[in-house]
Amino acid sequence: MTVRIRVTRFGGYVVEGPVELVDWEGQPITAPRPDRVQLCRCGATANPPFCDGSHNRVPRPPDPEHEPDAG
Ligand code: FES
Repeated sequence: MTVRIRVTRFGGYVVEGPVELVDWEGQPITAPRPDRVQLCRCGATANPPFCDGSHNRVPRPPDPEHEPDAG
C-alpha cells in the first residue's frame, strides 16, 4: 500500500497509510489512529508531533493568489 501524505492548506501534514512513527531515539510514538495521523508543521502544537489545531492561532504569510486585488 502506498502511504499518502497530504499537505493541508494551512494546517499539518496528513499521513494516511501504515507508517511507524518514532522519536529521535527510535522509540515508538503511539498515534491516536494507526492508519492516519496529522503532523504539525507550524511548531505551535502543544502535542508534538501531532497537529492540535494551534496553527489557527499562528499568523499566516500573505497569500497573493487569494488576497483581494489592491488595485
Ligand atoms: S500544523 Fe496544526 S498545530 Fe501546527
